[in-house]
Amino acid sequence: MFLCAFENNAWQQPEIIPMGPLPTHPAAMALHYGQAIFEGMKATVNLEGTPMLFRPEQNAKRLNFSARRLGMPEFPETLFVEALKALVDLDRNWIPPQQGSALYLRPFMYADEAFIGMRAATKYKFIIMASPSNPIYSKRVRLYAETHYIRAAHGGTGAAKAAGNYAAAILPTEHAKSKGYDQVLWLDAQHFKSIQEVGTMNIFFKIKGQIITPNLDGAILAGITRMSVIELLRHKGYQVVERPISIDEVREASKEGTLEEAFGTGTAVGIAMIQDIGYKDKDIHVSDESPVGQMVLDTINGVRSGNLKDELNWMCRIES
Ligand SMILES: Cc1ncc(COP(=O)(O)O)c(C=O)c1O
Repeated sequence: MFLCAFENNAWQQPEIIPMGPLPTHPAAMALHYGQAIFEGMKATVNLEGTPMLFRPEQNAKRLNFSARRLGMPEFPETLFVEALKALVDLDRNWIPPQQGSALYLRPFMYADEAFIGMRAATKYKFIIMASPSNPIYSKRVRLYAETHYIRAAHGGTGAAKAAGNYAAAILPTEHAKSKGYDQVLWLDAQHFKSIQEVGTMNIFFKIKGQIITPNLDGAILAGITRMSVIELLRHKGYQVVERPISIDEVREASKEGTLEEAFGTGTAVGIAMIQDIGYKDKDIHVSDESPVGQMVLDTINGVRSGNLKDELNWMCRIES
C-alpha cells in the first residue's frame, strides 16, 4: 500500500509498504469526529497487458473537494496520480484480466492525531490500498425509494465522499434489503420528492427517448462514471438532460408506458440495470430490458479492457 503522513503542516516523504495493520491511537480524531474521506477506482489491463487507470485525475480533484469540505489538507494531485501509477505498476500481476474485473483501488485520508476535542486535526494519513475485484451486480436491481431517512441535505456533506455519509446510509440500506430490495434510492431531504442518487451510484432514466439524470445540486456525489456516461451518450448522439426529476414523474412515466429504462452508474458497480423501484408500498415497474444501459456498460468495459478504442481519452496507461 501507498502511505503518506501529514504533520508539521506538510505532507511527508511517501512510501510503498506491504499491506498490513497500522497502529491506531484510541484518541485518533477520525474515530471520534469523522474526518475521513475516500475514493474508489479501478485499474484494468489492455490486450497487450498494459495496466490502465480510468480518469485518475478526476479522483484526485474529487478527493481534494472532499478534503476542503471536511477541513482536511489537500493532497497534491500530481502526487495522487503518480502514487497510483507506482502502486499499480508494482501490483500489476494482481490485475484480473477478465473483462469487467479489475484491481480495485481505495485512496483514503483520515485524521490520526490523538486528541479529544472538536477542531481540525493537525495529523493525517493518506493511504492507497489495492485488491482484485469482480463486477458486483450482474442481476437487474430493485431499488427502494426511502421516504423516512435522508442521505444528504443542502449545505451538508453529500457532494463529498465522506465516510460519515456511508455510516448514515447503512441502517436504511439494511431496511431496504430486509424488504427484498437491493439498494436505497435517495430522495431530497426536504420534500422526499426529487430523486438524488442510489447507494453508491448515480442514476439515469430514459423517458420518451430522452436521457435524464439529476443535476448536481450540492447534495449529490459528482460521480466520475456519471460524467463519463453523459459524455459517452452525447458523443453517441443521445439527448442528455441534467435536471431535477421527481419520483412522481417516474411513477407517471411508468404508468403511461413512457419510462423506457433506468440504470445506476458507479465505479464499484459499473452500470446496474434497474428493474423496479419500491415507493410507498408499491413497485414502480421500470423495464425488463435496458438496451442503452447495456450499450454503456459494454462500451465502458470494452474501453477499460482495450477491446474498444478509447475515443474520449479516458484511459491513463501505466508503462513499466
Ligand atoms: C454515493 C455515491 N454516489 C455515486 C457514486 C458513483 O461515483 P463514481 O462514478 O465516481 O464511482 C458513488 C461511488 O463512488 C457513491 O458512493
